[in-house]
Amino acid sequence: MYPDFPMRIPVESAGMRLKDRVAVVTGAGQGIGKATALKMASEGAWVVIVEWNAETGDSVWRELKERGKKTLLVPCDVGDRVAVEAMVEEVMEKWGRLEILVNNAGFDRPGTLMKVTDDDWEAVLRVHLKGTLNTMRAVIPHMIERSYGKIVNVSSVYGRTGEVAAVSYSAAKAGILGLTKSVAREVGKYGINVNAVLPGLTDTPTIARMPDRYKEMIIRDTPLGRMGTPEEIANVISFLASDEASFMTGACVEVTGGWRM
Ligand SMILES: NC(=O)c1ccc[n+]([C@@H]2O[C@H](COP(=O)([O-])OP(=O)(O)OC[C@H]3O[C@@H](n4cnc5c(N)ncnc54)[C@H](O)[C@@H]3O)[C@@H](O)[C@H]2O)c1
Repeated sequence: MYPDFPMRIPVESAGMRLKDRVAVVTGAGQGIGKATALKMASEGAWVVIVEWNAETGDSVWRELKERGKKTLLVPCDVGDRVAVEAMVEEVMEKWGRLEILVNNAGFDRPGTLMKVTDDDWEAVLRVHLKGTLNTMRAVIPHMIERSYGKIVNVSSVYGRTGEVAAVSYSAAKAGILGLTKSVAREVGKYGINVNAVLPGLTDTPTIARMPDRYKEMIIRDTPLGRMGTPEEIANVISFLASDEASFMTGACVEVTGGWRM
């Protein structure tokens, strides 16, 4: 009934629209972050892989090097402000500029209101909200200096709709939307665009571990009848990071196959 997949989906380069842009991608070791790193590199960007898992970060770094791309690996916990500032300093020292930031690093620690632990709540808010705040605070002064910057924050459809047993995650992802719009208002005058992407269910290594019955339930409620691929999310992130999206800021773009539209 549904068209063949993934044969019909263009995931190849849309041209060199990010040529020689320096792009920091957090959580680039796997899943959506890795697909974004590869996509942006294929469009000419010099990609900074920011990842706290040294092994996966290194493997993406090698893959980009093998493809002849300019890339830098900086192991870093985005929740640690000092480490994030050191990462940005390293990029500035090595490459002298920084035009694109993708805040993608994140994880969930499920829990209902009455069962969520303080530790889980704090860890989830730390990586998503504090992480996004840390990186934006560190890169924006450099973007202002050049009157140019593109920031894409990865939220989730749960940031708009909420979900049972995803109390911390939904709150954090909703917070990212507020943060995105507030910063977009603040920095538009400097030529900096700040947008958010809200993925639906996307087939990443983390989602592969989710019980099938839960995924099937979501897919049944998805007009396109399947999960998204990391590349399909990366395509939209890359578009938002390009000059093709020059009149977009504060936008919250859903990439969900129609789930919970
Ligand atoms: N996959 C989905 O269905 C889905 C749906 C909606 C939103 N999202 C969001 O998209 C983003 C990527 O999702 P994914 O499924 O690719 O996740 P993933 O778990 O497969 O990959 C996340 C990456 O971020 C890294 N990371 C986590 N915490 C970090 C930290 N503190 N510092 C540095 N790196 C860190 C991990 O090591 C990992 O490489 C996340 O923000 C997630 O919440 C995913």
